Amino acid sequence: MTEEKLSTFTAPKGTYDLLPPTSAIFLAVREAISAPARRAGYGYIETPVFEDVKLFSRGVGESTDIVTKEMFTLARRPESSESLALRPEGTASVVRAALEANLHKLGNLPVKLWYSGNFYRYERPQKGRYRQFSQVGAEAIGAEDPALDAELIILADDAFRSLGLSDYSLLLNSLGDKQCRPVYRAALVEFLAGLDLDEETRRRAEINPLRVLDDKRAEVQAQLVDAPRLRDYLCEDCKAYDEKVRELLTLAGVAFTDDPKLVRGLDYYTRTTFEFVHNRLGAQSAIGGGGRYDGLSEMIGGPALPSVGWALGVDRTYLALEAEGVVLDLPASTAVYAVALSEEAKTVLFARTVELRRLGVATDLAFGVKGIKNAMKSADRSGARFAVIAGDRDLAEGVVQLKDMESGEQTPVALEALVTTLKEKQL
Ligand code: HAM
Repeated sequence: MTEEKLSTFTAPKGTYDLLPPTSAIFLAVREAISAPARRAGYGYIETPVFEDVKLFSRGVGESTDIVTKEMFTLARRPESSESLALRPEGTASVVRAALEANLHKLGNLPVKLWYSGNFYRYERPQKGRYRQFSQVGAEAIGAEDPALDAELIILADDAFRSLGLSDYSLLLNSLGDKQCRPVYRAALVEFLAGLDLDEETRRRAEINPLRVLDDKRAEVQAQLVDAPRLRDYLCEDCKAYDEKVRELLTLAGVAFTDDPKLVRGLDYYTRTTFEFVHNRLGAQSAIGGGGRYDGLSEMIGGPALPSVGWALGVDRTYLALEAEGVVLDLPASTAVYAVALSEEAKTVLFARTVELRRLGVATDLAFGVKGIKNAMKSADRSGARFAVIAGDRDLAEGVVQLKDMESGEQTPVALEALVTTLKEKQL
């Protein structure tokens, strides 16, 4: 017999519900991967999940898949002239918010910010690629300093390591700046003109020829073997900058691999770009990425504010933990579980439960009429260290039974001493 379907609704394609106990791991991952940035002076920022669509087309770039194919635009209300899109990434929003609040004028630069939230891209869903996904990001706005690029890369590496991940690589590249990139661009355009490319790729090459280097199709990659390499065109300033970043990473013991083809899927990058790639995730292997974006502020109407940042993928970090068999040591959500064997006992234990919770002890209580067997099963499932069991006979003697769920040992404890006894155990 097939099971009766309880609901006709399911989560939309490319999305999923986060449910216990997995949801607790997600919370712990967000906490852990943001901790290094929080310790390094990054302040928390929250921006709306939707923005003017032009912020992304100008900021992220007209030649990117993200803008041309993957944006969730919202139906416009008839009376409004603005067009909105669900945010596909966080950097453009964070820079917009910093400019709007004049954060760059208020204090010392760089303005350091971190964020955590959901982002939306209309992609073809597969394992590790979703239409709603979660990122933790960090941005340092308004300073050109290789130590800042190195700081951010080290913070991301520390974030992954703090979770126990190790089977991943850091890919590093420099995309040059407004001096040397145009020279390289011209050389690349000339090279691409001689290739056999389809109409769409040609159009893309016209807007941003570097995008073509990132094309995943084997027939395109085969034609790119002899493409000019940006590395050979870097100006002295960019070269020196890149070297300094590398030197600082090496000093911090962070290993990296040169990847001259690393372009990244967003147009705003200049100089340092990087990606953390996990070795056991198959096609969707990037667990985080970022780089310097010295021109973004100007692209969205602000002053020149050289900046650098990253975003780490929470969904993929979770998959990476699974792939490496890392089990996070999460504290049980319940420390004490109360089981009442009568109405009167329920009233008494309910009051103690409230008291314990107010004292900071994570306490739960068996609800509904379950019988002792089922109630003890729930106590077991809750992960509680102790169960408190009481019936009329116990109460008549002024005691409750305290059961150590690990050893199975059960001892009577005076009702009046229960809260202090449990408090002393520092659960
Ligand atoms: P991104 O490389 O597009 O960069 O995204 C960063 C990370 O988000 C990826 O490495 C991946 O782990 C995760 N991610 C992206 N798309 C998906 C998806 N469809 N499903 C699951 N996970 C996904 C940015 O978003 C830039 N804003 C990073 C940045 C910050 N650059 C400078 N500052």
